[in-house]
Amino acid sequence: MSARRRPIIAIDGPAGAGKTTAARNIAERLSLVYLDTGATFRAVALKALRESIDMDDGEALAALAASSRIEFAGERFERILLDGEDVSEAIREQRVANASSRVAVHAELRAHLVELWRAIAKPGGVVLEGRDIGTVVFPDADIKFFLDARPGERAKRRFTEQAEKESVTLDRVTHDLEVRDESDRSRAHSPLRRAEDAIEINTTDLTPEQTLEKLLEAATERLN
Ligand code: DC
Repeated sequence: MSARRRPIIAIDGPAGAGKTTAARNIAERLSLVYLDTGATFRAVALKALRESIDMDDGEALAALAASSRIEFAGERFERILLDGEDVSEAIREQRVANASSRVAVHAELRAHLVELWRAIAKPGGVVLEGRDIGTVVFPDADIKFFLDARPGERAKRRFTEQAEKESVTLDRVTHDLEVRDESDRSRAHSPLRRAEDAIEINTTDLTPEQTLEKLLEAATERLN
């Protein structure tokens, strides 16, 4: 594979598969920035909730995104700003997560956000995390990973994260994850699926460190 000087690494997979931790860790180890594409859907969903925009109205949501400033900040792009406001924490609420998979079905909105991600990532040196990075956004990424884990394990991880922030039950988180999974996999535009040339890693029984080791092994092989 002809690796560009500043690589583009794609990490796709369902919620709770360990993408965020893996993407942040590998970005840090390889001195790359990290682009959490899901955070941009969450930012739009947050604004739509605040402004009572209909989640089924793709045009209205795309117009909302187009009239908003969505920016990443911090050394590795770990913060997200919406119209100048740091919404990194606010977008992690369960209601925003649920709304984000509803807004993500709309092609008009996706087109707008894909343009934003490509503009940021084009120079390379980026790890992008999402659902369609290896299939649609950067089909020629230098390395593609597809992370997955058993549904019960994914729900447990999400529950542990959410319980630190708000009052939730494992049943609620499991149910919401199933609904989001179904929507992300079955939507007409850019559904979640593994790119044929993606390296699949099942993280069910792996610690974050073990996952990182696997990613680094593959990255070292492909990028050198
Ligand atoms: O990764 P996440 O849970 O923060 O993503 C939030 C939602 O955004 C998720 O339900 C799927 C959607 N998403 C998407 O459709 N495409 C992406 N590249 C990233 C996220």
